[in-house]
Amino acid sequence: MTRPRITCHMVTSLDGRLHPERWSDPAEGTIDDLIGRHYDTTAERLEADGWIVGRKTMAAYVPEIEALALLDEPQPREPHVTERKGRQLAIALDPSGRLGFESGELEGEQVIAILSERVSDATLDRLRAAGVAYVFAGGDGRDLEAALETIAERFAATRLILEGGGVTNGAFLAAGLIDETSTLICPAIDGLAGIAAIYDHPGETGSHPAGGQHLRLSACEVLDGGVVWLRHEIVRK
Ligand SMILES: NC(=O)c1ccc[n+]([C@@H]2O[C@H](COP(=O)([O-])OP(=O)(O)OC[C@H]3O[C@@H](n4cnc5c(N)ncnc54)[C@H](OP(=O)(O)O)[C@@H]3O)[C@@H](O)[C@H]2O)c1
Repeated sequence: MTRPRITCHMVTSLDGRLHPERWSDPAEGTIDDLIGRHYDTTAERLEADGWIVGRKTMAAYVPEIEALALLDEPQPREPHVTERKGRQLAIALDPSGRLGFESGELEGEQVIAILSERVSDATLDRLRAAGVAYVFAGGDGRDLEAALETIAERFAATRLILEGGGVTNGAFLAAGLIDETSTLICPAIDGLAGIAAIYDHPGETGSHPAGGQHLRLSACEVLDGGVVWLRHEIVRK
């Protein structure tokens, strides 16, 4: 089976940090204005079938609910496929079913939840009743490759943009699932020790989530306002 090509598209400060609300403004204008001008327009130029985010990033668009307890054992599960109708895909990693989607559409895009096979039948009933499509990422909800293969096969996705946050990007990186990075470096600094980075895998000290993965610069563009857009291919050896 094949999975979609994954491009990780992120905006960051000079020190690689994740939270724009913490960064200094550029010499002219504001950081919000710069991101508003460039993040979506550059994403469109990647010509993907849709985007994937972690549960915490999706919570900016969808209310969180109290998740029902997970079952003790994974159950045999079937994906729930809704008709794509040419829409972009809005995909969230939500292993425990904590996102309270009220509709299968988000700003005109087709929602897909990536779940663990241990979510309850009631959680699946709620999602189907709301018209939300879902696929499974194994018993612990962490088998990202399996979920991506299902999305490629059942939703005809060949290319997806991974849009954070840092923990989700770190998980994709550690699993060797990122094919390209697309990074908007803003004229800004965070500067505080311990703030999350745009790739933020919580491994043991001494582990190397990017091990065996080598970056080759494929494009560099200076955008209006001094944002530098870098694209790198990831070469695995
Ligand atoms: N600078 C940028 O371009 C940018 C872009 C996007 C977001 N952000 C910022 O990033 C912040 C959120 O980032 P974050 O790193 O804290 O959280 P996140 O990556 O958005 O979400 C993390 C959650 O996703 C689920 N998840 C992560 N890895 C998984 C895996 N391997 N398998 C299954 N599920 C997985 C888990 O959900 P459960 O806890 O439910 O298990 C995890 O707690 C927000 O403040 C947002 O504003 C910045």
